[in-house]
Amino acid sequence: MKNVIEVKDLTKEYKKLKAVDDLSFEVKEGEILGLLGPNGSGKSTTINCILSLLNFQKGSIKIFGKEMKPDSYDLKRQIGVIFQEVAVFEELTVYDNVDYFCGLYINDKKLREKYVNEALELAGLLDYKKFYPKQLSGGLLRRLNIACGIAHKPKLIFLDEPTVAVDPQSRNNILEGIKKLRDNGATIVYTTHYMEEVEILCDRIIILDKGKILASGTASDLKELSEIDEKITVEISEIDESILNEINNLENVDDFTFEMNVLTVKYKKGKNNLGELINFLKKNNVTYNKIFSERPTLNDVFLSLTGKELRD
Ligand SMILES: Nc1ncnc2c1ncn2[C@@H]1O[C@H](COP(=O)(O)OP(=O)(O)OP(=O)(O)O)[C@@H](O)[C@H]1O
Ligand SMILES: [Mg+2]
Repeated sequence: MKNVIEVKDLTKEYKKLKAVDDLSFEVKEGEILGLLGPNGSGKSTTINCILSLLNFQKGSIKIFGKEMKPDSYDLKRQIGVIFQEVAVFEELTVYDNVDYFCGLYINDKKLREKYVNEALELAGLLDYKKFYPKQLSGGLLRRLNIACGIAHKPKLIFLDEPTVAVDPQSRNNILEGIKKLRDNGATIVYTTHYMEEVEILCDRIIILDKGKILASGTASDLKELSEIDEKITVEISEIDESILNEINNLENVDDFTFEMNVLTVKYKKGKNNLGELINFLKKNNVTYNKIFSERPTLNDVFLSLTGKELRD
């Protein structure tokens, strides 16, 4: 597969702070690449360097095989960017906002009308064409921001945390819309600090922390890096300290916590851990509500790699 983006040895410093520290990675044609990292890990800085919006101390950027520079307008025309901060015109309607941004690239009126309507449909905004931005909820406003960025059908799309603080309905609309853009042939770079999103959306994930790549691969590749293999959660209203302490002696148990009536048991390996734990609880007459088993999450991977939580 062709590389749409090639980042080599990229370093961006703000005075003494290395916001991006010697990053190298590629983005392949037709994939959704997720940049996952906590606040301040360098996601936006990386994107802004790739787009030549920021100058940087070291490194090289190629897009579609060509060096990306501030005046690479031929490359920029093929790129769509949805910035972290919403940027639309308050005095234009939803339709006119999308039409304005699309008009920067598409001169033909008929074709533009088609593109604008397709973008509004993808963002689920057809019923809001005549609304002004201040009449939209936060989620709808984000969707307008996206429609403005993708209406000209760019081949390469950057979305910087497009789902922060949006309602669940808008979040689903946004994630579904991004999948459609990929299915229509676009290559996508998606940043977020929500690990659940990269898991369901991204073909490949790069985990960033303090401007460095901690790990990269598919979600299942990354989960191999987790120290734990299984996590079992049990809701228990009451359990004796002495029984609790015996959990550490059960086979394969790596560690456990009991907080706010929730018992969490972590395992490094094993095939029948859930059955064993149920037997143990029964034998000790411990009653419980829900009990469920999970594979490690990307948060566990992050925890294994850094010793801290990815979550806010
Ligand atoms: N203009 C600037 N001047 C100085 N420091 C900056 C500037 N912009 C960003 N930084 C610092 O660079 C680091 C990376 O910031 P960046 O915005 O790229 O992170 P991020 O991963 O996008 O975070 P968030 O999830 O909060 O958007 C942070 O420590 C940030 O404080
Ligand atoms: Mg950011």
